[in-house]
Amino acid sequence: MNKEIQEKLRKMSHANPVDEAVMTILKSQSQCCVRARVRLEEMKKTVGKNVLFISGSPRKGNTEHVISRLYESVVGNKEILLLRSKNVKRCIGCLACHHQPVCTIKDDDVPEIMESVLAADVLVIGTPNYFENVSGLTKDFIDRLHPFYKPKTIQGKKLIIFMVGGGKSHGSLEMLKSSMQGFVKHYGLELVGAFAFQGLNPKDVECDPQNEQTVSDMVEMINGL
Ligand SMILES: Cc1cc2nc3c(=O)[nH]c(=O)nc-3n(C[C@H](O)[C@H](O)[C@H](O)COP(=O)(O)O)c2cc1C
Repeated sequence: MNKEIQEKLRKMSHANPVDEAVMTILKSQSQCCVRARVRLEEMKKTVGKNVLFISGSPRKGNTEHVISRLYESVVGNKEILLLRSKNVKRCIGCLACHHQPVCTIKDDDVPEIMESVLAADVLVIGTPNYFENVSGLTKDFIDRLHPFYKPKTIQGKKLIIFMVGGGKSHGSLEMLKSSMQGFVKHYGLELVGAFAFQGLNPKDVECDPQNEQTVSDMVEMINGL
């Protein structure tokens, strides 16, 4: 295998299934590196990045509307995760995951959620503003990713966040940034964008045409990553 390919392999995240598949191809084709490299570039072009869209609202309302609009508009591999439809038990604070990267909580949907997070290159998380913080659902999700904390498993993944609040949207933006600061810092994520929407009742964001511009800006940002 030539040096360039070896370097590429070294840089690849083993957590990304696309990269793992490409790596298998490259390893099995080590005799013909040039062909393998062409295949790698083609595969990357076709498959592209994985984007995971997460709604942290307990209702079918504004956050879910924005998440759905983004999901339908962004090109490439994508997955949508509505936390309200998942069983996410609360972290019990046992700290077992500080010794080995597994969680002691059983029988909920977090293992499959963690797999989706692992497979994603870009995470897009939307949350309602609940008393100037993220929703409880969003916080439980963040806390349950704790097994990723010590081994820095999701370090370097790109993150785009947005918040919907009944109050002025610039207020929500400040709340959002401060409430997500620890998540970004401790998991080693790269925060590339933060957005806010104003809406109190479930269809407020959908009914205000001005919000479409913000959605378009977000789509452009995600597609450009
Ligand atoms: C428990 C609770 C606390 C809230 N606290 C705030 C707040 O501090 N600031 C604010 O602007 N809106 C607040 N709201 C309003 C919600 O952010 C608003 O209804 C938003 O549209 C919810 O998003 P969703 O439709 O995606 O669920 C609160 C709502 C609830 C239910």
